[in-house]
Amino acid sequence: MKIAVIPGDGIGPDIIRQAYKVLDRVGKVYQMEFEYQEVLMGGAAIDQTGLPLPEETLKVCQSSDAVLLGAVGGAKWDTLPGHQRPEAGLLGIRKGLGVFANLRPAILFPQLKSASTLKEEVLGDGLNIMVVRELTGGIYFGQRGRQDSSAGQEAWDTEAYSTHEVERVARVAFEIAKGRKKKLMSIDKANVLESSRLWREVVCKVAQEYPEVELDHMYVDNAAMQLVRNPRQFDVIVTSNMFGDILSDEASMLTGSLGMLPSASLGEGNLGLYEPIHGSAPDIAGQNKANPIATILSAAMMLRYSFGRQDAAAAIERSVGNVLDQGFRTPDIMQPGMKIAGTEEMGDRIAANIS
Ligand code: IPM
Ligand code: MG
Repeated sequence: MKIAVIPGDGIGPDIIRQAYKVLDRVGKVYQMEFEYQEVLMGGAAIDQTGLPLPEETLKVCQSSDAVLLGAVGGAKWDTLPGHQRPEAGLLGIRKGLGVFANLRPAILFPQLKSASTLKEEVLGDGLNIMVVRELTGGIYFGQRGRQDSSAGQEAWDTEAYSTHEVERVARVAFEIAKGRKKKLMSIDKANVLESSRLWREVVCKVAQEYPEVELDHMYVDNAAMQLVRNPRQFDVIVTSNMFGDILSDEASMLTGSLGMLPSASLGEGNLGLYEPIHGSAPDIAGQNKANPIATILSAAMMLRYSFGRQDAAAAIERSVGNVLDQGFRTPDIMQPGMKIAGTEEMGDRIAANIS
């Protein structure tokens, strides 16, 4: 299996190194062979080629079986104009690979309950929410611009969705809901936005193909509130690109640390893009402090969704649980009585525990 790897910036290379260890080990145990090809994107690509997403990178990714990404961005490139920033590389690769459905599971490991900012009684016996975020449309990709006006400068970004764009991401969400608790919450702002009214109409139409799934709708402001008030009411959420960006950060924090959560971005075929949901944390880059678990769990999602290897994916997830059970914690999830582990040690231990 050919995997294009984008280590990226900041802690990106630190955490990707741990994913290699785990993949190599799981490959041995479960008889899979991985061929890695590292490519440039984000700040690293800007420094070496002048572009956040060199053509060569997109080509290599498009001809691979899956893409594994660390993180991109950093203060060094923050003053560049929008289309030259590292983030433009990220948006470009999502669009270029056609990965319109972004799966962001927010799962609370029982070992980390006390790391959540929510009270134990709100968390109950755990949290397991799947956020399905539309990833290649909406305001991230709509027309934007600036012009002089009588009131100074004027700037705009456009939120636009087509029936087709909503239909395909809704279908992914219904399929996932069908395999879980058969409950889907669609989140929009249909009381104000026309694009949300179309979103809601289309989701309702797709729902007719899934009579076994119970569909509900919620306005995004209420959803943001309900997520902290009673997160256990949610199972699968489907929402637009920008609302999904915001709500997935919120959902992730309920689980204790941004450093724990993986993501998968999928399109029509098997090719997927897998990345932790956190950023490049340049302040701790190269210091053996970053939590590699989100990236390791992203590699597990890759085995599940792009390679159809549920067995090997589950083995990685089990191993993460075991290492947490043994009391090892990176600084971001450290708690009294636990054993501190650096990035490398965490990677070594998770690899070694795979069986
Ligand atoms: C994410 C990030 C990106 C996004 C940024 C870095 C462009 O916040 O993956 O959630 O907004 O999509
Ligand atoms: Mg985000």
